[in-house]
Amino acid sequence: MTSADLVVANCRQLLTLAGPIPKRKQSLTDVGLLEKAWLASCRGRIVFTGQEKDFKARVRAEKNAVHIDARGLVGLPGFVDSHTHLPFAGSRVNEFRLRLKGYTYEELAKKGMGIQTTVKATRRATKSELVRLCLSRLDTMLQNGATTIEAKSGYGLNLKDEIKQLEALREASRKHPVDIVPTFMGAHEIPKEYRSRKSAYVNFLLRRVLPEVKRKKLAEFFDVFCEEGIFSLEDTRRLADGAKWAGLKVRIHADEFTPLGGAELASEIGALSADHLINITPEGIRKLARSDTVATLLPGVSFFLMLDKKAPARQLIEEGAIVSLASDFNPGSSMVSSMLFVLQLGVFLLRLTIEEAINAVTANAAFALGRHKEVGSLEPGKKTDLLLCELPDYASLVYHLGINPIRYIIKNGRVVVKDGRRL
Ligand code: NIG
Ligand code: FE
Repeated sequence: MTSADLVVANCRQLLTLAGPIPKRKQSLTDVGLLEKAWLASCRGRIVFTGQEKDFKARVRAEKNAVHIDARGLVGLPGFVDSHTHLPFAGSRVNEFRLRLKGYTYEELAKKGMGIQTTVKATRRATKSELVRLCLSRLDTMLQNGATTIEAKSGYGLNLKDEIKQLEALREASRKHPVDIVPTFMGAHEIPKEYRSRKSAYVNFLLRRVLPEVKRKKLAEFFDVFCEEGIFSLEDTRRLADGAKWAGLKVRIHADEFTPLGGAELASEIGALSADHLINITPEGIRKLARSDTVATLLPGVSFFLMLDKKAPARQLIEEGAIVSLASDFNPGSSMVSSMLFVLQLGVFLLRLTIEEAINAVTANAAFALGRHKEVGSLEPGKKTDLLLCELPDYASLVYHLGINPIRYIIKNGRVVVKDGRRL
């Protein structure tokens, strides 16, 4: 008999997402569906999923165990948001209004707005203001289903303010149940001070900032905006080498606005993920499909920037790439805090099937962060990160828009949202 301190009884449907991870092609159609299922957890880890009969034979609930009656509820793993720009200050609502008048995102950036607007506001903010902003955003993201999120710096673009963003993340992470995976993204844009001296900025990142990030152990990943007019393929390669030297794993903003070849480079250098890919080349698709680099698609960007062009999700899946979906939560190109909405956009904009999209926000997203042994599926030994939704069936996660059906959220085996309210 195994003991349990949390028992979830009688889920109408339970999606375990179990199976070899990462998932490609056909295996993306399997969500590990169990009907009338039970789940048990002990000290934050899953100890059982299955039918009542087996539960009774194998699990003994401890005296003070928490019991949840999940009749009428659909259970699935907490979502993993593998791409966010969480710790920023200020707002870009005025630039949003300009976009609605016809200016494009790139035009605003060329006028010195865009990322630079947020850099100014973030440099002015204190660390504790950033912590407060992160905590309140984490609450919203949690209530919309995310239980693990990646979060990037990249609005400081100097030593002091990049470190300030990463320290704010560390502090927020200590105070909030959502797990945060920190990424150093000093290579998000070329700061004003270095406008005409890009290689000096690359050197500065390599010689001054990366060693400090390493010394303070502030990040697990390195990210770079590989884009025409920002960081070239050559810059990206140099930066990625430096990041690996500093013990960081690499992910790349690739082929967002122009088909530069970021996806090819990402697969060549063994990046964990190539993100965006709206303008990926046919060669990029082939290379990703043959590698373990995840194709992370961010449909919030095509939606929020009202682009006709979308990432070629169907082709990526059909050729065999590991596809995942993330929010890209940021104030300029995707002010989207809801992974539930991202799941829906994956189906409506990118034409994933419901099952593919669910895999893409759970198991494959966890793989994109190197966390697939911990989260992203409901299997014995993994963290008990569980959403319980009041829905007739799991397809209604996508079918019924504009509601939040999540009644319970269990994070690390503890109930953190009950009846839709944060405890
Ligand atoms: O992923 N492309 C670069 N970075 C973000 C946008 C950040 C911003 O506009 O503030 C992105 O789209
Ligand atoms: Fe981004």
